[in-house]
Amino acid sequence: MELFTVNRISEDIIEKIRNTIDIVDVVGEYVQLKKQGRNYFGLCPFHGENSPSFSVSTDKQIYHCFGCGAGGNIFSFLMEIEGLSFLEAVQQAAERADVQLPDTFEQPNVSKISTHEAKMIEAHELLKKFYHHLLVNTKEGQEPLQYLTNRGITRDTIDTFGIGYSPSSWDFGTKFLQKRGFTLDLLESAGISIRNPEGRYFDRFRNRIMFPLWNLQGQVTAFSGRVLDGGGEPKYLNSPESEIFQKGKTLYAFHLARPQIRKKQQAILLEGFVDVIALHRAELTNSIATMGTALTEDQIRIIKRNVDHITVCYDSDKAGVEAAYRASAMLKAAGCDVRVAMMPEGLDPDDYIKKFGESKFRTDVIGASLTLMAFKLQYFRRGKDLRDEADRISYIDEVVKEISLLDKPVERDHYLRQLAEEFSISLDALKAQEFQLIKQVKKRDNEHTSRNTISNRPILPKKRMLLAYQNAERLLIAHMLKDRDISFKVQEALGGLFNIEEHSAIATYLYGFYEDGHMPDVNAFLSRIEDIALQRVISEISMLTINEEISPQELNDYVKQVLNYPKMLKIKDKEVERREAERRHEFVKAAQIQMEIIQMQKDLK
Ligand code: UTP
Ligand code: MN
Repeated sequence: MELFTVNRISEDIIEKIRNTIDIVDVVGEYVQLKKQGRNYFGLCPFHGENSPSFSVSTDKQIYHCFGCGAGGNIFSFLMEIEGLSFLEAVQQAAERADVQLPDTFEQPNVSKISTHEAKMIEAHELLKKFYHHLLVNTKEGQEPLQYLTNRGITRDTIDTFGIGYSPSSWDFGTKFLQKRGFTLDLLESAGISIRNPEGRYFDRFRNRIMFPLWNLQGQVTAFSGRVLDGGGEPKYLNSPESEIFQKGKTLYAFHLARPQIRKKQQAILLEGFVDVIALHRAELTNSIATMGTALTEDQIRIIKRNVDHITVCYDSDKAGVEAAYRASAMLKAAGCDVRVAMMPEGLDPDDYIKKFGESKFRTDVIGASLTLMAFKLQYFRRGKDLRDEADRISYIDEVVKEISLLDKPVERDHYLRQLAEEFSISLDALKAQEFQLIKQVKKRDNEHTSRNTISNRPILPKKRMLLAYQNAERLLIAHMLKDRDISFKVQEALGGLFNIEEHSAIATYLYGFYEDGHMPDVNAFLSRIEDIALQRVISEISMLTINEEISPQELNDYVKQVLNYPKMLKIKDKEVERREAERRHEFVKAAQIQMEIIQMQKDLK
């Protein structure tokens, strides 16, 4: 079977890459790993969890999550976490490993794989270059360039963010791309061109400052265009959603910020992308932004794969504070450590930096950011007059409720004391109130599942209730993965006759792997398997603890259990038949069936 139909990469190269990179290093960039015995454990990046069930084996160079079943080798990991194809994962890994790929893989994958989506991206990339050129090199670009300069955006920043200018012509961009072989249909579906009722195509963006928007890999998939001062509505015009652009999955400048985010183990989340550009000037290059829309679970997942510490810094108007409250609550629920940075009423980060300078922003805004609890205390105060008794009581109620939700008793104590002191109320009274609330929460939790506490204890592989034959099949494969001879023996005795389809497929691949002359090596074997589901099963099985040696007797028993299972199913069918015959008083027939059953049972031994 041909595993990689497009541009097959030789096994030599794949092996070279695998031997150079340590999977622990790569996974470690996405997951905080702790060593425990021979393996590493961490929180699984592929599903939300609070206790680590994700493990990485250094010996085997594979990963496996006991919680969600994700698993594979370094290529599978990159494929899953970055959403790459196998070839792209190999390319990315080759880069890290400094391994030269054959010429055919040198070009960016955009131009290699000629899918519809790749074409749409290519059109955006070209248009970005064109807009940028117009801005920085032409007479038409002078006014918009001046506008940017007035906003404090330097030439350097313009280059970093690929900022450009779309001319006021009706269809300059459309024509430009059409000449380069893009169909009008494609340009329309990419959101670049708009078709009017008469069937004419014209440019979506005209006379705007153009900000490219990227996907997580840093490819341009959309634009946002801002009007020049004094010109038209809306202030920012965004590309429509398409196959390659979804607002809710976009985090502005993520590919630029990611290295910094990982290095600092800290991300700054902003509301608007202009703020990201401003923060870059303040050397806060670990900042990213939503597209002015509410934070989504998809975006949180992307953030969470890279970092736990997040500082939310939204506009300081009413809408901004509300949005910050919701965003920080969602991030907290996802297990992030959240701080909230505040500015004087009415400013956004960009305004603040313009008004007070970069260094003051670093120290007085980001540096003075509040813990989530402290932010909530301020938040509950909004619109209340604490000198008024009713307002005060409702405020204290809200705060105690919030305190009771904190995980750590020390923290609860701290905030209760603070509250008691501020309002001169007895600490005991507050504690009593808090205790009632905790009891309610506990009761609710027992009815549902557990509370959101984070434990550091890795979950050990759950003892699953497996039937004998399922267990036997898994153990056979586990031994086959470690020993060629056993694999050959099983091949002779069983061939592909495993009862579970995945096991049968794995065995078949494994026979081929050894027949090609390979030595046992799960990691190498995984590289030949394209199917993620199979990869998962293989990783899971190879994480089983088994004895190094297996006696011929044991091997025989497992093989029998596998072979017996379908026979036992047939016996069960026969038994049903027999009972049916008895019920109909066809005793001769029933006796005949019974004879058959006895024969079949003998066969089992
Ligand atoms: P703001 O109105 O706060 O804009 O919208 P801003 O970032 O301060 O922009 P300047 O300083 O006036 O140039 C915040 C974000 O909401 C989105 C944009 O992503 C913007 O960065 N937005 C805003 C739109 O998509 N369309 C709009 O018309 C306005
Ligand atoms: Mn602004």
